[in-house]
Parts: sequence; structure tokens; C-alpha cells
Amino acid sequence: MKITIQPTLERKQDITFLGIFEEDNSNYKSYDNSLAAELDNAIKKKLFSKKFGELYSTQVDGKRTIIVGLGKKEEFSVEKMRKALGKAVRCTRSLKLESLETNIAELGHDLHQFSYEMVGRAAAEGLFLANYAFTKYFSGERLEKEKNLTWTVLQWSGSPEKFNAGLSDGMIIADATNMVKDLVNEPASVVTPSYLEQAAKKLVSLKGVSVRIMEKDEMKKEGLQAILGVSKGSDLPPKLVFIEYKGAKQGKLIALIGKGITFDSGGYNLKPTHYIEDMKSDMAGAATVMATIKAAAELGIKKNLLAVMPLCENLVSGSAQKPGDIVKAYNGKTIEITNTDAEGRLILADALSYTEATYQPDIMIDLATLTGACVVALGYHAAGLISKDEELVKELTNAGLDSYDRVWRLPLFDEYQDSMDGTISDLQNTSRKGKGYDAGAITAGVFLSKFVDKAKWAHIDIAGPAYWVEDGDYLQKGGTGFGVRLLVYYLLQQ
Ligand code: BES
Ligand code: ZN
Ligand code: ZN
Repeated sequence: MKITIQPTLERKQDITFLGIFEEDNSNYKSYDNSLAAELDNAIKKKLFSKKFGELYSTQVDGKRTIIVGLGKKEEFSVEKMRKALGKAVRCTRSLKLESLETNIAELGHDLHQFSYEMVGRAAAEGLFLANYAFTKYFSGERLEKEKNLTWTVLQWSGSPEKFNAGLSDGMIIADATNMVKDLVNEPASVVTPSYLEQAAKKLVSLKGVSVRIMEKDEMKKEGLQAILGVSKGSDLPPKLVFIEYKGAKQGKLIALIGKGITFDSGGYNLKPTHYIEDMKSDMAGAATVMATIKAAAELGIKKNLLAVMPLCENLVSGSAQKPGDIVKAYNGKTIEITNTDAEGRLILADALSYTEATYQPDIMIDLATLTGACVVALGYHAAGLISKDEELVKELTNAGLDSYDRVWRLPLFDEYQDSMDGTISDLQNTSRKGKGYDAGAITAGVFLSKFVDKAKWAHIDIAGPAYWVEDGDYLQKGGTGFGVRLLVYYLLQQ
């Protein structure tokens, strides 16, 4: 999709979207007299009320026009900008039209001290995220019906530099997010550990990016038995992929570690029907940290980053790991496998401890579709955040509010600390309390914390927001790319 800006609306595109705040009483009189009369009438008859998200469809000079309610000025936000533009894109696509023009970005710009960059970024995010559809497996008529938006014209009469800079940043961020959606939506028989390895290798064409792959043999030599144990039931070899981005000569190293189970059957603790179908999405964390490097490199963020992707399948076979098995992780701690479905924490245990020992990052942030318990607690609109570092909590929480990839902190009280202690081993991979499910998102975090030594660390459980079961205003059902915006906004804030 191409975006262009121009100081006035010219009604040259397939459809026009005009935003309107509740306080605006002129009802577009200066734009078109008969439109104002029609709107006055529609409002009187309660056919339209200007509440946020309400749409009123009409024609102006024979041109298809939709009035978009923007609600009260004081309640407007950059998220509402994303949503309003997302609605415009969805509406245009559903009418099988290919171009739109709108004044919504401009209307939002002089409210609440939003900077022109912020408005531009949010506008591009709303437009490009909403224009995504996973259509590659449709054929015939179904495929022909899918029309992408090819052109958007935004009215912008102010100085264009900062707005344009925001737009191009937003485009990069949305592109990276859409890449995660593709990787998550693609079936697990396509997106295998080596598929993700190849995707990572493609990033070396970006300035400052290099990739290292740890293969199975090296894992054996280094003692990464936890990931090896999980992958035992699979015919495909596990991979540990490191993507380095050098954006600064010196300074902190931030490691981003993403869970990369390309399919989670549960193993011998097999997942039942209704719980297993979407488990191709269990690599969302890995895809997210990879896409964050892509965005950071394209944005030229002046930071040193390391994305780490432990990749394997969790399957059942004659050679699969069994409940009761005991493995020794990279840091020497032994773990009894009390449940083969609690596999994410196992591969992260090795990834976290190996990364810290080898690269000495100052900060480690892991993203993982880790627990169903986190979905029970927070649903689909916030990720669980676990960290003892108050500063990191504050920064991630703020990045979440700005990007709307929101995180909500869960406690790591002392009383939880022994919940993962083993009976015949150092640790076990599920808590004995409540069959392993009580405070499940927290006890998973406690387990991970045993594999972090000195680094500042935050764990983000994205099991809910990474994969949606219904469409939103600018995100679709299926993969959402949750976490890319969170991490990029966090990095830009630093
Ligand atoms: N990948 C799942 C968690 C998950 C659940 C992600 C729902 C997305 C949606 C994870 O590996 C898992 O199965 N966790 C178990 C842990 C339990 C055995 C302690 C769970 O949540 O049931
Ligand atoms: Zn599992
Ligand atoms: Zn899993």
C-alpha cells in the first residue's frame, strides 16, 4: 500500500472517510452544504451520534463517503487513531474498493500534545496492520474476492517532515508485526525450526545484523539437555538461533529471548481437542524477537541487541521424553519432567542460562506463549509481566500503554519461590500445588527465574494476546504480532 499526504481532500479515491468529534457542530458545512443538512437530520433522528467508532455512510457529489464518529476530543488517543483508521481500511476492503482518502490523522494531531511523529507512527500502524490478510491458502473465487488496499491519501496541512518520519517508522513497525502474523498463521508443517532458522539468516542483509546457529551436536557438547529433551519426540533437529544487531559502538546489551515451539502437542501429556488446534502459534515469541531485530535494524535504533530463538517441536513418539524423566539444564540444575506439556520453560531455561553465561547481557527479556493460566487471568488484551526490576517494569508498562501491546504485572512474592522445588531433583517443571495449575503463570515465572543469574530480567507471557480468536479493529483473528510494537517502543524510549 502506498501512502501519500496532501493538504486538502480531493475526493479522487474510491472512498472518503471524514472523522467527526462530538464537539463539532458544523457537521462539515464548509465541505459540502447538503452533507451538513443530511448529518443534522441523521443526528436529530438518532441515526448517527458521533460516538467513537460509529459509521454513517452517504454520498457527496456522487462520491462514496463515510462519516466516522471520533467521540469526545478529550478522550481521543493515538490508539483511537489506529482503531479509526483500521476501521476505514476494513470498511474499504469489505466494499472491495482499493483506495481511500481521509482527514482522520489530521483531526487527531492537535489534541493532547501528541507529537506529529507519534500521530504519523500510529496512523501507519493502523493502516498497515489493518490491511493484512492471510489469504495464501484460498483459491478461485475466495481468493479473487480478497482485495488489498493499494493507496491511502491522508490529509495533512501542517509541516510534513515530522509526520512523514512518523509514517515511515510506523510502516517499518507494522511490516515487522505483519511478518510475525505470517509466521504464526502458516501451518506448523511449513514453519519448522529450520524454516525459522532460514528466516533469521535472511536478516543478515540488514546493516549491523549477524546470525549464529547452534546445532544439535553443539547443544549436546554444551549440555543443553533441557531443549534436547523436549525435542526428543520430533524427527526434526532442534536449533538455537542467535541474531545479533550492533546499532551502537558501546553500551548495554539487551537480549530478547523468544519461545520457539513450532508445534506443541503437549507430548505424552497430550493436549485434548479444542486445546491443540492452534498450537502452531507456540513459536510466536521467537518470531516476535526476530521481527523486533528486523524493525530495529531498519529503524537504525542505536542499541546493541541479541535475539535468541530456541526452536523445536514438542511431539509424541517412541523416543519422546516421558513424565518422570530428569534432565540437567545448561546451568547444572536438574529438572524432573512432571508434565511434558510444560515444555516452554524447559527450552527457555537453557536459552536464558546459556545466553547470560555466553553473552553477558545487561538486560534479558523473554517473550513466550507460556501458560494457559495467563490466558485465564488476563485474556487476550494484556500479556503477563513478571520481573523484580522496578525500572524495567515501569519502562515496559509505559511502552505497552503507548504501543497498546499492553502488559500487566503479576507478583513474584517470596511465598512462591519454592513452588518449583523438586522432590528427587533440584526443580520440577510444574508446581505440585493445584496439579500445577494454581497461579500457573506465576509459578512458570518462578521456574524461569532460577535460570537467570545477574542480568536484569523480565518475563512476558504472551499466550493470550499473541493469537486472537476474533477480529479486532486493526488486528485480525489468528496471529497478532503482539510484542513487536511493545519491544520497539521500549527500545525507542531508551
Ligand atoms: N503452549 C502452552 C501454553 C498455551 C496455552 C499457549 C494456551 C497459548 C494458549 C504451554 O506449553 C502449556 O501447555 N502450558 C501448560 C502448563 C501446565 C502443564 C503447567 C498449560 O498452560 O496448561
Ligand atoms: Zn505445552
Ligand atoms: Zn507450549
